[in-house]
Amino acid sequence: MPAAVHVVSIDPQASTVWWADRITDLPFDFSQEHKTPENLALLKDTGARVHVVANQKGGVGKTTITLNLAAVVADVLKETNTLQHVFIDTPGSLQDENLLLEALKYAHDVIVPMPPEPLAFDPTARTVQKVIEPAGLPYFVLVNNWDPRDGKADLDETREYIEAQGWPTLKTAIRRYKVHTRASAEGKVVTQYDENKPSFKAREDFFRLAIELGYGGR
Ligand SMILES: Nc1ncnc2c1ncn2[C@@H]1O[C@H](COP(=O)(O)OP(=O)(O)OP(=O)(O)O)[C@@H](O)[C@H]1O
Ligand SMILES: [Mg+2]
Repeated sequence: MPAAVHVVSIDPQASTVWWADRITDLPFDFSQEHKTPENLALLKDTGARVHVVANQKGGVGKTTITLNLAAVVADVLKETNTLQHVFIDTPGSLQDENLLLEALKYAHDVIVPMPPEPLAFDPTARTVQKVIEPAGLPYFVLVNNWDPRDGKADLDETREYIEAQGWPTLKTAIRRYKVHTRASAEGKVVTQYDENKPSFKAREDFFRLAIELGYGGR
């Protein structure tokens, strides 16, 4: 019986597989396909919605967003036994652009994580303008890794930049929590975090994101 959610990584760094391998009760199906990107063509006929998570700037949170968004969507759809959503985690480098272009062929939409840091602005703009917009797909820029303890200035500046670029964006911002940073080593996704206040907040962000994107089913 297929799970409702499938995560595919096409990142040759394979950090997604390193993380997924540590998770005891993986709430979704998982495959690593950077050597066999032609397998992505199979997704076309499944009827599932295919979401690519992309930003050619490294370390912006693509893997964190992919696995945790997939986890909350899988949690909401756990009684569903047909494939509904596929999330593709992609490489954070310009060298692997061909892999990203391959994934975009089969995607319905693209989520572009970016941290609220001016250093990330130009590289994100390159990915959006050179790769994502030419693909003609709907896309959403998602602010990730915002630390509320630093105040709202960075978040506001980033939102102003996104607005000035005219990029579609999401109201939800994913806040920075230490639990997210530790989760890969602990082999957990957000639905499996311990029951404490920071974990609740961390989880809330991903449920908000899934609701805003409309990925929770009917
Ligand atoms: N919201 C967050 N809160 C705390 N830590 C975060 C958050 N998002 C990302 N991180 C941390 O930042 C680092 C980079 O995140 P991640 O590996 O998800 O980025 P990436 O875009 O997939 O990187 P790459 O381009 O190398 O594949 C990791 O240590 C991760 O735990
Ligand atoms: Mg990654």
